[in-house]
Amino acid sequence: MVQTEYLEARETGFARAVELLRAGLCVAFPTETVYGLGADGSNAKAVARIYEAKERPSFNPLIAHFGDAEAAFEQGVFNDDAVKLANAFWPGPLTLIVPLAPESVVCELARAGLPSVGLRVPSHPVAMEILRRVALPIVAPSANRSGRISATSGQHVREDLHGRISAILDGGETDVGVESTIIDCTGSQPRLLRPGGIPNDKIEKVLGKSIGHKPAPSATPLSPGMLTSHYAPRASVRLNATSIKPGEAALLFGQQLMPGLDEALATDNLSPSGDLTEAASRLFSSLRRLDSSGAGTIAIAPIPMHGLGEAINDRLERAAADRSDI
Ligand code: TXA
Ligand code: MG
Repeated sequence: MVQTEYLEARETGFARAVELLRAGLCVAFPTETVYGLGADGSNAKAVARIYEAKERPSFNPLIAHFGDAEAAFEQGVFNDDAVKLANAFWPGPLTLIVPLAPESVVCELARAGLPSVGLRVPSHPVAMEILRRVALPIVAPSANRSGRISATSGQHVREDLHGRISAILDGGETDVGVESTIIDCTGSQPRLLRPGGIPNDKIEKVLGKSIGHKPAPSATPLSPGMLTSHYAPRASVRLNATSIKPGEAALLFGQQLMPGLDEALATDNLSPSGDLTEAASRLFSSLRRLDSSGAGTIAIAPIPMHGLGEAINDRLERAAADRSDI
């Protein structure tokens, strides 16, 4: 059992967070996507504490976070496409996978032994403050137990990780609500590895070319976030529901009519006005809330596939996936 300190997003909290990170300990902090569980990515012992706290399968590599693009550029080898994307979207919810620079200090454990590294410059003011002060690559997976729903508030982090990490820096609710978009820039053509906070069409517009389709979910831990059941609530999940069965919890979107809703054990709406950005920001907290109702199944209304809808549906498909393979 680790003593967990609760830090506020002001001077004393920032200073303490940086002190703990420099000492090789784990600190959760907000980014604009979800809360990250940070540790010094150049210190394998510190990185191991993350895997331990999350009970994460150690073959999953971590993203290294930086306070500005210049610091990130030093850690990887950027081709023209990677430079274009970094210039267009950093700071922001984009992760670039690039070949490791010879002078990189991101340790092997953080990369799960890969010759590439995942780099990101978050735009959340609290994240930027910490990252600039600490001046280390801070690796940070989402601050939840492995295989559980990502945390979008300090309270979510507390529920999953109290007594397992050294501190939680509370910066309120996160804005984007789904993780960063991940683009693999290690080959001759950039490739989408995980849909996320930046819609695909925006990325393709900057590149002037297609980034391919998202890889099919599989249990093979080769590619990021591709463990099939990565976002699983306790309840089972029924997608594209057009009616509610007695005793189910209901997750709605927009104003669709939902027969049987009166019989639902609990109800939430990702966005009554049908706004996908709002829906993304509420996704994980709504799933958590409905999961805690004790319903055996969460029935989820169809979510459109455009804009952030692709990332939302990707997360929901994982939540609905058979869990026997993890
Ligand atoms: O928005 C986000 O990206 C959040 C916040 C905290 O920054 N972080 C996050 O980290 O979602 P995590 O660990 O939950 O997901 C990172 C994904 C994993 O699926 C991992 O496999 C992939 O990034 N990844 C990291 N480095 C990689 C590499 N070198 N090659 C391929 N995939 C990599
Ligand atoms: Mg995660």
